[in-house]
Amino acid sequence: GGEAHVEDFKFSFEGPFGTWDQNQLQRGLKVYTEICSACHGLQYVPLRDLEKLGYSEEQVIAYAANFEVFDPELDDFRTAKPTDHFPANTAAGAPDLSLMAKARAGFHGPYGLGINQMFKGMGGAEYIASLLTGYTGEEKTEAGATLYENHAFPGGWISMAPPLYGEDTEFDDGHSNSLHHISADVAAFLMWTAEPKMMQRQQAGFVGVFFLVVLSVLLYLVNKRLWAPIK
Ligand code: HEM
Repeated sequence: GGEAHVEDFKFSFEGPFGTWDQNQLQRGLKVYTEICSACHGLQYVPLRDLEKLGYSEEQVIAYAANFEVFDPELDDFRTAKPTDHFPANTAAGAPDLSLMAKARAGFHGPYGLGINQMFKGMGGAEYIASLLTGYTGEEKTEAGATLYENHAFPGGWISMAPPLYGEDTEFDDGHSNSLHHISADVAAFLMWTAEPKMMQRQQAGFVGVFFLVVLSVLLYLVNKRLWAPIK
């Protein structure tokens, strides 16, 4: 048990000028597909959104064909198409991961100014990466269920067995598949599924702040000028 501990991972999408690392998102998709999808669904994510990760239409069609989805019109299962979402997966009682990175804000950073999240991110991806690297190797059985000790999980014991050990998959780009890196990659991918428009939001925020700064300067100068004859 004890205090839940979330490590500050450095992600490319953090900070006012952050951007997605497309290669990292592709690696994360691979980890999700090969490992996490066995238990976790991504039911809010449209498969065709994968084109935004740099895949061609043909690649997305081929990828979608890995999944079976229930079609209410056919009243039967069929091969998934890009217009479908990733399937849900409730078989193992594991929560859907589509929005998990937004649901778990993990890293709040040192207390103080309160603007830490602007530079270090909201923490959802940190929490997921810390969870995946946070197993101690201890386990116990409680009411017939096996629980695994984990430093990042609130309460310290989680029913998910360690899904990653490092070297769980090979990456085409030759990137490191150590536990630390592979965990960060899948966490980055899950940040993207939870907030695919993050870059647009950050840019809109930047334009907004820039505009307000310009406006403030102009108002200051106008104010000076208007009051100049009176002072
Ligand atoms: C819970 C991620 C693989 C079964 C979770 C949670 C996350 C997560 C973020 C939520 C923790 C929370 O509530 O704060 C992942 C990732 C995986 C993966 C990224 C792949 C790398 C798996 C696999 C299984 C599994 C393969 C099944 C064999 C579960 C279960 C829970 C869970 C049962 C609920 C745990 C609890 O509330 O005690 N997972 N998971 N996961 N996962 Fe996974």
